[in-house]
Amino acid sequence: MRVRSALSIITFTLIAALAGPAFAEGDAAKGEKVFRKCKACHAVEEGKNKVGPSLFNIVGRTPGTVEDFRYSKAMEAFGADGHVWDEETLASFLEKPKDLVDDTKMAFVGLKKPEDRADVIAYLKQFSE
Ligand code: HEC
Repeated sequence: MRVRSALSIITFTLIAALAGPAFAEGDAAKGEKVFRKCKACHAVEEGKNKVGPSLFNIVGRTPGTVEDFRYSKAMEAFGADGHVWDEETLASFLEKPKDLVDDTKMAFVGLKKPEDRADVIAYLKQFSE
């Protein structure tokens, strides 16, 4: 019994350690640095659109719905399909924008590192309700 419970603790710890990074909350302070890659095109201030739409309140929002921003048809369709910018959808878009929304006009290669994606999402969350 004792050996078994010790083993299950070890197994649990191992699983938690392995699963950790995938579920880890991002670090908003690091995310602010990652956001430098987005700043040429995006602001986090409400209503401030640049080449890309304002990312104010992006987490939880329907894609393609910032007023006065001219989105691609692809992005509008993506929102109309019922998608929501939750953490999972954002992470997938930021990894390779064109893989998720194939005709998006966001000309950005993507963030390769999972930590960078988690961190920048944590940063954006600060400007979301
Ligand atoms: C070269 C300019 C450019 C860069 C760099 C860029 N974006 Fe974008 N982004 C855009 C454009 C343009 C759109 C609108 C896409 C469309 O309509 O298809 C967009 C759309 C988005 C959307 C969807 C917004 C909405 O209202 O639905 C998110 C989220 C986003 N970008 C996040 C980011 C993040 C985070 C980064 C940095 C890691 C980044 N973008 C880098 C230009 C850029």
